[in-house]
Amino acid sequence: MPRESELLPIIDKLAATCQGTVKEIVSLLVCEDETVLNYLFAKALSVKKAVFGQNIYIRAIIEFSNVCHCCCCYCGINRGNQTVSRYRMVPDEILGLAYEAIDAGYGTIVLQSGEDMYYTKEMLGEVIRGIKAYDKRVAVTLSVGERAYEDYAYWRACGADRYLIKHETANAALYQRLHPGHRLASRLDCQRQLWALGYELGSGFMVGLPGQTIEMLAVDILLLQKMQVSMAGIGPFIPHPETALAGAAKGDTGLTNKALGITRLLLPHAHLPATTALTVQGGRAEALAAGADVIMQKATPAAKQQLYEIYPRLVKEEYSLKEKRQLLLEQLESLGYIGV
Ligand code: 5AD
Repeated sequence: MPRESELLPIIDKLAATCQGTVKEIVSLLVCEDETVLNYLFAKALSVKKAVFGQNIYIRAIIEFSNVCHCCCCYCGINRGNQTVSRYRMVPDEILGLAYEAIDAGYGTIVLQSGEDMYYTKEMLGEVIRGIKAYDKRVAVTLSVGERAYEDYAYWRACGADRYLIKHETANAALYQRLHPGHRLASRLDCQRQLWALGYELGSGFMVGLPGQTIEMLAVDILLLQKMQVSMAGIGPFIPHPETALAGAAKGDTGLTNKALGITRLLLPHAHLPATTALTVQGGRAEALAAGADVIMQKATPAAKQQLYEIYPRLVKEEYSLKEKRQLLLEQLESLGYIGV
């Protein structure tokens, strides 16, 4: 195990060059030395502040359908889970929620669903155009999984700005085990298509997946760089009781924060959310201190949020969207940030 005197220069090198090797990244991911970790997070924070100042970007996410044709082993809404009641919102309903979020001050609307082919490219196109017609300054992010190139192109032409499609794990064998019938190569093809169409590309991965090694995590981080992503969501795996991985151990939040901090050094300009999975039991301040610059808030009505349970989490919505945003702005201010 490298000593402190060897690890601090590695952090400096990563920050100065935005380059790192698997070996260097692994040495930081396994490090438990407090001095080294404090140095890593302080460096990540200063890189974030040099790029974004005090800003933390707040997004509204609308989870418009929990129907999914995939059977990802970790996901609570995978198609094999018979205990979930499924819902789909019609375009007007989605638009109503989007308008409410825009009126409440949110500048980005994220439209997310399971992989649900019920939504034709025209249906989602109508939603994208509706949002842009309501307020052209609002950014539209899609997160609806693997679709045909022509769908991606059509939505881009309708005005969609960004697309989230995580690689989840960069290890092809592990990817295939966790996503029966799906391949990492196809996922990366989708990412390349989206990038070429001019979307701001969002990727990301889970930390602590059963069968995942620390070396694989280092490769995950390097893949973000290779794919030239604009955004990356990094969150711990949380076992869901109605999945094949119900009995597996959950991912470590400390390790996730290290991965976040290293990613910040290698991709200074990327938007890195304090993922919901990471902050589900508190820990938002730690994620922000490790280099995260984005927070997503749910604009999905509480009853439907409950049915969109990718991983177990408590849904309690006591506040309106506007109040939620206000509370977050105040919390961020108390941490020395400006919510935008
Ligand atoms: N634990 C943590 N994150 C999960 N996701 C899906 N299932 C889980 C889980 N059990 C993440 C994936 C996906 C995003 C929508 O949620 O990274 O891309």
